[in-house]
Amino acid sequence: MAKILVVDDEKSIRSTLREILEFEKYTVDEAKDGEEALEKITKEDYDLVLCDIKMPKMDGIEVLQKSKELGKDTQFIMISAHGNIETAVEATKKGAFDFIQKPPDLNRLLITLRNALEKCDLVTETKILKKKINKSTEIIGASEVILQLLKTIDKVAPSDARVFITGPNGSGKELAAKLIHEKSARAHGPLVEVNCAAIPDELIESELFGHEKGSFTSAIKQRIGKFEQAHGGTLFLDEIGDMSLSAQAKVLRALQEHKITRVGGEKEIKVDVRIIAATNKDIKKEIVENSFREDLYHRLAVIPLFVPPLKERKDDIKLLIEKFLLEIATDYGNVPKVIASDAISYLTNYDWPGNVRELKNVVERLIIMSDKSITLADAQNYSGFGK
Ligand SMILES: Nc1ncnc2c1ncn2[C@@H]1O[C@H](COP(=O)(O)OP(=O)(O)OP(=O)(O)O)[C@@H](O)[C@H]1O
Ligand SMILES: [Mg+2]
Repeated sequence: MAKILVVDDEKSIRSTLREILEFEKYTVDEAKDGEEALEKITKEDYDLVLCDIKMPKMDGIEVLQKSKELGKDTQFIMISAHGNIETAVEATKKGAFDFIQKPPDLNRLLITLRNALEKCDLVTETKILKKKINKSTEIIGASEVILQLLKTIDKVAPSDARVFITGPNGSGKELAAKLIHEKSARAHGPLVEVNCAAIPDELIESELFGHEKGSFTSAIKQRIGKFEQAHGGTLFLDEIGDMSLSAQAKVLRALQEHKITRVGGEKEIKVDVRIIAATNKDIKKEIVENSFREDLYHRLAVIPLFVPPLKERKDDIKLLIEKFLLEIATDYGNVPKVIASDAISYLTNYDWPGNVRELKNVVERLIIMSDKSITLADAQNYSGFGK
């Protein structure tokens, strides 16, 4: 339940408000003047402060201002004495949610309170979302192979060259594709992803190229395909090793001609897209076995990139653990946990068949399961691979 701080120099008002709020199941704290209020606000995170304006030592407006300066999201509702409306209005200009007059009308107080708390939830939610959206596309690593990979990406990204990324599960292929897009001249254009393994064969053509209304039974309206959606940007064909041979033929044609035709349509549409493809399959083997077209491979793999398994770049593990400790703590809104160096060594010795994704999951599990800091025993107990 929401935590509310009641600030008023009159004891009777504080106790009345406390009684009302506790009856409504809020958690209530009190401060008898501005100074005490600010002290409490600094130490605790309140959802809301009900704050008298005229008080000794520090007035309510100053408490509000100082709280904002501290970067607190706490909402303020000012309580103003009769005839003090101007100051109350000034407070709302300075960021207070609202004000109510003394003696407070119970219904109005509770409604204002609920609205303010709703706003509080929205502010928190927006912050979390913003953090998620702004999450940087950053490839962490100190190993020779990763540094080399980053150099290649820097060189390749600004060109329009097609890139074919291979590497095992969870090694960071998608991350590499995003980074290439972000560092390219197309960064302001769309990055459209298609997971070729997830689309049934009979739908892939319509997914990639779109269709006209009525072109097949379930085509009840026109649909714009991924190639067109990616116009001016990058199309990421993920798990391309799982694409059927017939779909491969159509993609090949689109790449050769820089044009597509919607299913059931006649018009040829010019598309300007850069293609990045990725697979965790051994593509050379797929070619030998005739399940992947060699001509398509050569079209796509102007620049082949290999993201190596984590066990071949153990120098990255410590950095990745630290990065995930910070990232996950930020997601949860916590302070990052400290991990003991013998726990890091233990995690470094493991082979990580699920690569970086597995490491990230283990770090998250360790954060949840450990106490104040992550010890060797935690790593042994909760890493899930034991010795
Ligand atoms: N070098 C890295 N630095 C930071 N995070 C990484 C790194 N490599 C991978 N990750 C993270 O690990 C997770 C898995 O990476 P990603 O999805 O790019 O792998 P993938 O190779 O596409 O896997 P799959 O083959 O299973 O599709 C993601 O959360 C990604 O952000
Ligand atoms: Mg992937």
